[in-house]
Amino acid sequence: MNRIVSFFSAALILTLLSCNVVKNPRLTDNFNDGWKFHLGDTVNPQSTEFNDQSWRMLTLPHDWSIEGSFDKNSKAEYGGGYLNGGIGWYRKTFILDKNIYQGKDIFIDFDGVYCNSEVWINGHYLGKRPNGYISFQYELTKYLKLGKRNVIAVRVDNSHQPNSRWYSGSGIYRNVWLNAVSPAHFKQWGIGITTPKVTPQKATIKTEFQVSLPEADSSAVTIEAKLYDTEGKLVAQNGKVDSKDKKYNTTLELIAPHLWSTEDPYLYKLVSQLYVNKKLSDQVTSLVGVRSFNFDADNGFSLNGKPLKIVGVCNHHDLGCLGTAVNKRAIERQLEILKAMGCNGIRTSHNPPAPELLDLCDKMGFVVMDEAFDMWEKSKTTFDYSHEFKKWHKRDLQDQILRDRNHPSVVVWSVGNEIPEQAPDSLNSGARIMKDLCSIVRSLDTTRPIVTANNNPNPKNAIINSGATDLIGINYHIENWLKFKQDYPGKKLIVTESTSSLQTRGWYQMPSDSIARIPKRWDIPYSTPHHFCSAYDNCSAPWGSTHEETWKVVKANPYVSGMFVWTGFDYIGEPTPYTWPSRSSYFGIVDLAGFPKDVYYMYQSECTKTQVLHIFPHWNWKPGQNVDIWAYYNNADEVELFLNGRSLGRQHKVGDQLHVMWKVPFEAGTLRAVSYKNGKQVFATEEKTAGAPNRIRLTADRRKIAADGSDLSFVTIDIVDKDGTIVPDAENLVQFKVEGPGKIAGVDNGSPISMESFKADHRKAFNGKALCVIQSKKRSGIIRLTATSAGLATGIVEISSK
Ligand code: GAL
Repeated sequence: MNRIVSFFSAALILTLLSCNVVKNPRLTDNFNDGWKFHLGDTVNPQSTEFNDQSWRMLTLPHDWSIEGSFDKNSKAEYGGGYLNGGIGWYRKTFILDKNIYQGKDIFIDFDGVYCNSEVWINGHYLGKRPNGYISFQYELTKYLKLGKRNVIAVRVDNSHQPNSRWYSGSGIYRNVWLNAVSPAHFKQWGIGITTPKVTPQKATIKTEFQVSLPEADSSAVTIEAKLYDTEGKLVAQNGKVDSKDKKYNTTLELIAPHLWSTEDPYLYKLVSQLYVNKKLSDQVTSLVGVRSFNFDADNGFSLNGKPLKIVGVCNHHDLGCLGTAVNKRAIERQLEILKAMGCNGIRTSHNPPAPELLDLCDKMGFVVMDEAFDMWEKSKTTFDYSHEFKKWHKRDLQDQILRDRNHPSVVVWSVGNEIPEQAPDSLNSGARIMKDLCSIVRSLDTTRPIVTANNNPNPKNAIINSGATDLIGINYHIENWLKFKQDYPGKKLIVTESTSSLQTRGWYQMPSDSIARIPKRWDIPYSTPHHFCSAYDNCSAPWGSTHEETWKVVKANPYVSGMFVWTGFDYIGEPTPYTWPSRSSYFGIVDLAGFPKDVYYMYQSECTKTQVLHIFPHWNWKPGQNVDIWAYYNNADEVELFLNGRSLGRQHKVGDQLHVMWKVPFEAGTLRAVSYKNGKQVFATEEKTAGAPNRIRLTADRRKIAADGSDLSFVTIDIVDKDGTIVPDAENLVQFKVEGPGKIAGVDNGSPISMESFKADHRKAFNGKALCVIQSKKRSGIIRLTATSAGLATGIVEISSK
């Protein structure tokens, strides 16, 4: 069914498809197709008469910066990954079927545009939103011509650089929606759901509705709220709806609730219906997770009464080679990889996330620290949001809270990261702003604690000292976690950011037990010829710590509610400790392409029930060279290492040790590790010396995808020898060819210094691996990816798209 018709550059589709009678009077359509794009500023493209024939046709979400080349002189600098911003224009020409849209109020919803977006409909200016991470809506109704041509134009200005400490992307990089509702309707984000009382026997679900009633006769209005379980069975229903100040409240009682948790993220469906004179006027479906949680000064975090250590990660919003262009499957893949590691928490550092991230956290079982700002009035980069803060912070924060308040995954609001106003000043601005932000949040949601992420752990910190925060959030400074109870008697600690360990996948520096802190200080330049960091977990930023140093303290102290490791995934920009040609981070537990670094398995061995025995590094060294072999393992008493069949002895973890190690003189062949429990073998793994690169092995993460033009298959490319062993230093150039209804959405290899384009049809392998992301088209069929490279046998994989 197509009730919106876009004008395409070549052909104008004249047929207006009428639609069957829809039960729900609310019409929500994805509005991503059929946009024209122009990079650069131009004269008057908001005019309906403007000729955009030469503009490029595209489908949103779109990030133009990721399409560009790395530029040593980029004004975005190292923070922005040396990718340029600029100004861009988008236009969309469309017709709305009069029979369907007549009498409706029509809105356009942008999930996020980076940044300084301005929007026009049919030449009328609708407004500006400077914040690149905020979701916003404009009403179009009175400017639209139903059944005729309409033009929406969006100007995006990301030209003032630097304005971010990490890669922001540029453009309409999140989804756009068209919503049409009857005049009497639920307002945007106007349904607020809380679960104030939760016991195993009964849960209370409070719902507050904000409605728009233009012909206000509230006596004619009734609201019905019905709760369904996952089988579609009606399990609770509202009683009488109270109407006070146009706010309608109701309470549902749910008997024997199935609780939402990170292990069992059960979601009910709440269907809210607005009737006017008994006629259905609006209907909205919300997902509801019934859960309770608590932060305790002595015992940390608990979910539904059970202690839960938050093993969280901070992530920025880019999706590697896709840039920041939102793709639900790409976010889901990141979360799947993190979940399998034992991660149960996400910090949306340092901005409101895409709505899809929170939907997935609800569905997959993560707790979320939902963050608003990286700075307040004092700036961190020359053109950042500090310039807009005074004018916009209230509106932006309100919109974030209203949008995100119904997500069961969200358990903490963070109103700032490493805010410069922590330092006391004569105007006491840290305390003033903190109190203001807290009152904004609390006027909309009192069910979640508020925190700031502080890099100054001193109790004299002006923000902490304001007394307005519910939790004390500390970034880094392990020593302060240890003396927290003395510094902050009776207070609750959450490690809002930790670790900042530095690693390059597949690159190792020995001795593995000597720890490098690099750079010496954040502002002292550091460089090496190779621009890599050791993957032994023996390298961190000086303000940070290794993963093992950090986890040991978090694990051992029940009052530490948990931590958010900097970071789960590598991201574009901030290539500490290096600068050019390094252009993406080294902090990730997982590299930019989504390939885990070795320390991933430390967390997996500690935080999951998965059987783990991971040995590293690879087994290709110089004859006689002494190599440190590490093993992460669990569910076993000891591990034995064999080289070419000879035992090198058994090792076991002592005290709080998290790995075992052997020093082994290299000799080509096979290293085999065997783990034992009660003397019986439980698991075994091998590392073999690889021979010369022989062929390309392709592995698709999914061989069946949806033919919706959005779904993705992530294909891993391994360069292997004749026996199938990955060649650990292979860097062969691989050429891709796609046949059938699919295309390349991006390519990568996880190297932080590759200058190759993320949008090319080829990629060099990095330490034996590369990635090719295949995207479906809106047509079903078999997508065939062929990967070739000089001197190697070709790899082929087929993906079915339906
Ligand atoms: C923190 C900061 C993060 C990131 C990190 C790198 O201080 O909050 O945004 O810059 O350092 O170690």
